[in-house]
Amino acid sequence: MKIFSTVAELHASSGNQNKRRILVPTMGALHAGHISLIRLARENAGKDGEVAVSIFVNPLQFEPGADFSRYPRPESADAEACRAEGVDVLFRPVPNEMYADDRSTYVEETILSERLCGASRPGHFRGVCTVVTKLFHLLEPQAAVFGEKDFQQLAIIRRLVRDLDFPVEIIAGPTIREPDGLAFSSRNQYLNAEERAQAPVLRVALLEAAQSRENSSARILTTVRTKIESAPLARIDYAEIVSADDLQPRLTIEPRSLLAVAVFFGKTRLIDNIHLG
Ligand code: PAF
Repeated sequence: MKIFSTVAELHASSGNQNKRRILVPTMGALHAGHISLIRLARENAGKDGEVAVSIFVNPLQFEPGADFSRYPRPESADAEACRAEGVDVLFRPVPNEMYADDRSTYVEETILSERLCGASRPGHFRGVCTVVTKLFHLLEPQAAVFGEKDFQQLAIIRRLVRDLDFPVEIIAGPTIREPDGLAFSSRNQYLNAEERAQAPVLRVALLEAAQSRENSSARILTTVRTKIESAPLARIDYAEIVSADDLQPRLTIEPRSLLAVAVFFGKTRLIDNIHLG
C-alpha cells in the first residue's frame, strides 16, 4: 500500500493512468461501514483496478463549536485496516496540505443542501462539496463510493458531479448496522452507556414505519416521532419523508420516498433513513 501525506508526493507518483481507480473518501476512524465501502470499491475496481482511500478530517465541514477537535483520529489502526483490506493507495494529508490560510474558493450546492441536515449544520455541505471536489482533482478516480446512511450527502455529491461535469461515477454503499440495528458511525463512540442502549430506537421506529401500510406521510411521522420519543434521552432534530432524488417533502408515500431522521442523544447527533414505498 502506498501512503501519501502531501499533494507533492501524490503528484510525483502520478499513479498508473491506465488503471481504473475507485476512491473511498473518509474522515478516518474506520469502522465496519467504511470497510464495506472499501470492499465495494474493490469489487468495482476489478482485479486490475486500484482502490484509493482518503482519510482527512475536513475542518470546513464542521460548523463552529462542533466536534472537529475531538473527532477521533486513530491513525495507525486506520492504516492497518486499509492494509488488511488490500487498499492500494492511502492519501492522508495534513490540514495545511489541503487548505491555504488565505483560501477564498469554495464549492457550494445551493438547493439540496438547505434542508434536513443542512438546516441544523450551516456550511456543512459546502465544506463537503469543497473537499470532495479537491479529492476528485487530486486522485482522479473513475468512480467514488459513498454510504447511503448519509443519503443527503450522497444526493448532493451526485448533483455536484452532474452540475460540474466530473467524469466520476458515484457508487452508493448500503448502511451497515450493529446487531441491535444501530447504524455504524464514527460518532457512536461519543454515546455513553445509557445513550447507546437507547439509540437503536431509531432503527425500530424506521422499520415499523416501513412495515406499516400507511400512505399518509403525516400519520407515519406522528408514529415515528412517538416511538423515538419513547426513549427518554432522544431529542428529535428532524423526522421527514422526502423524495430520495430531490429531497423535497412528500405528503404521501410514492416510489423512492425516503424516511429520514436525525436525533440527538446528549450532544451526539445520529442520523438514519429507510426507503418507503
Ligand atoms: O462522509 C464523510 O466521511 C465525509 O463527509 C467525506 C465525504 C469524507 C468528506 O469529508
